[in-house]
Amino acid sequence: MTIQLGPHRIEGQVFLAPMAGVTDVPFRQICRNWGAAYVVGEMVASQAHLWASAKSQSRFRFEESDTLRVTQLLGADPDALEKAVYFAVEQGAQVIDFNMGCPAKKVCSVACGSALMKDEAEAQMLLKRLGEAARGAGVPVTLKCRTGWDESHKNAVTIAKMAADEGFSMVTVHGRTRVGGYISPVEYDTIGEVVKAVSIPVVANGDIINGERARRVLDETGAAAVMVGRASMGNPWIFRQISAYLKGDRFSEPDYRERVETILDHWQAHFAFYEEDLAVRTFRKHLSWYLQGWPNAAPALAVVLREQTGESQRQRLCDYFAAQGWI
Ligand SMILES: Cc1cc2nc3c(=O)[nH]c(=O)nc-3n(C[C@H](O)[C@H](O)[C@H](O)COP(=O)(O)O)c2cc1C
Repeated sequence: MTIQLGPHRIEGQVFLAPMAGVTDVPFRQICRNWGAAYVVGEMVASQAHLWASAKSQSRFRFEESDTLRVTQLLGADPDALEKAVYFAVEQGAQVIDFNMGCPAKKVCSVACGSALMKDEAEAQMLLKRLGEAARGAGVPVTLKCRTGWDESHKNAVTIAKMAADEGFSMVTVHGRTRVGGYISPVEYDTIGEVVKAVSIPVVANGDIINGERARRVLDETGAAAVMVGRASMGNPWIFRQISAYLKGDRFSEPDYRERVETILDHWQAHFAFYEEDLAVRTFRKHLSWYLQGWPNAAPALAVVLREQTGESQRQRLCDYFAAQGWI
């Protein structure tokens, strides 16, 4: 199945979810290399006064590797969101995604993210303004939401219909309510109801952890694609694994040597993107994810995570890989 977002054609059904603090430019590049068909950047606040911060700047930024550039906006002020759409497009965004899924109680001092699903009139107004702004800026706009606020307020169908009516090109549903956080069982049936209710492509998100799960969710919901979040952390080959499973192709898990190559490529891209101090600190979490459960990794990781410069971090990492015979 091919998804068309305005002029952009997406080939493939396995997407990378936006994850603040994780899906930056370098990680998106690695996931693309391993077959992610569509990747979304980390959410960025719509208030203009926050755009000068280093964090926002890096989230609005794109590189050559971002073949389709998607910026996710978070906010509840229609004027600010409208300005943010134009600003994001000036920075290179080719698609705008609107976040109605973030569960944080108060983000940027106003209720936004999934809190917007609680107030349908407010949601409708914002979707309308965003639809208009995106048309004005000449880019498609998409929505990411949850199934609702809580068990007794599940309104993903209503919200998705509103988005479709306002000209949104795609909707991704994380199959949990706001109250369900990240751990309640995923309601794939609600995602299926959204698919039936709208004619735009629907992407199913929540606990897509392997090919079997992806196949089942696509079959049960009728969704156009699946979106993988946490299962990709330290595990970017999951995109190739799931895609192969969906096509009925053989897939062999990459061996340690191949994984090591990916880690070192990621390290390289990460240090090319961030200044060194930040790069050293922010790469630690990726290393902890990558090396989880690897032979003799715990003592090696303890050493690597203590290093304070890029070069020494890389050197200690390579010492470990060499001791295992992988490089
Ligand atoms: C660390 C982290 C950061 C996240 N940041 C965002 C974000 O910036 N925007 C967004 O729409 N969702 C965000 N999410 C939610 C994910 O996109 C996804 O909907 C959720 O993790 C469920 O998918 P999964 O079960 O495959 O992880 C985040 C999730 C995690 C774990």
